[in-house]
Amino acid sequence: MNPLNTIVGTIVGGVVLAIILIVATMGNHIIVMPAANSVIIWLHVLAGITWIGLLYYFNFIQVPGLAKAASDEGGPGGAGITKYIAPNALNWFRWGALVTWLTGAAYLLHIGQLDDAFALGMLTETVNSYALTIGIGAWLGTIMLFNVWVLIWPNQKKILGMVEATAEEIAKGKRIAFMASRSNTLMSIPLVMSMVGSHHGFVM
Ligand code: HEM
Repeated sequence: MNPLNTIVGTIVGGVVLAIILIVATMGNHIIVMPAANSVIIWLHVLAGITWIGLLYYFNFIQVPGLAKAASDEGGPGGAGITKYIAPNALNWFRWGALVTWLTGAAYLLHIGQLDDAFALGMLTETVNSYALTIGIGAWLGTIMLFNVWVLIWPNQKKILGMVEATAEEIAKGKRIAFMASRSNTLMSIPLVMSMVGSHHGFVM
């Protein structure tokens, strides 16, 4: 049975290949990190790619595409996107966001830096630059998670007709979801700088 025929099969196949590569290269690891940290960050980055990848899809592809479809008189319209694509994309998007946040927090808890990261490195006498750097990203990620679950998802359900809503509620919901999604796109850029900066040095 070809695993590539199903999404689950493809993901499981990817994990199996990852394990084979770990076993195959076990002999000459350059950097030896405790396994738990590696697994948490691996899952964190996979979930982060899913979340931010779909955020960029919504902002750079779907929203402009639906606007073009709406203004294209006699054209095919956007019904196929809103019925078959958007609900599935929103599923992977919001659960990807939650898993990204939970794995990020789990990593910080695991290395004993959760409180200092959210205190932006100010719990120690001299500022803890690691906690400050990753803390900036953790706060941005927390605001972005709030936007996803409290502003974007409830309003997208109204917009896509998944819950009852008046025309006025839908119009208001469109504006709130649009601005929350754009804000997340803006915040994603310094967030990823802080994620990478925590380990490779800030650009400053
Ligand atoms: C959009 C959301 C996020 C994305 C795309 C993201 C992405 C990443 C990436 C790519 C790394 C690896 C950096 C590297 O090793 O060079 C990373 C590391 C990390 N992220 Fe995130 N992250 C996100 C949100 C969060 C949140 C909300 C938290 C905390 C609650 C968090 C905590 C961490 C931690 C602790 C690390 C490890 C840093 C280290 O290597 O010491 N991340 N993240």
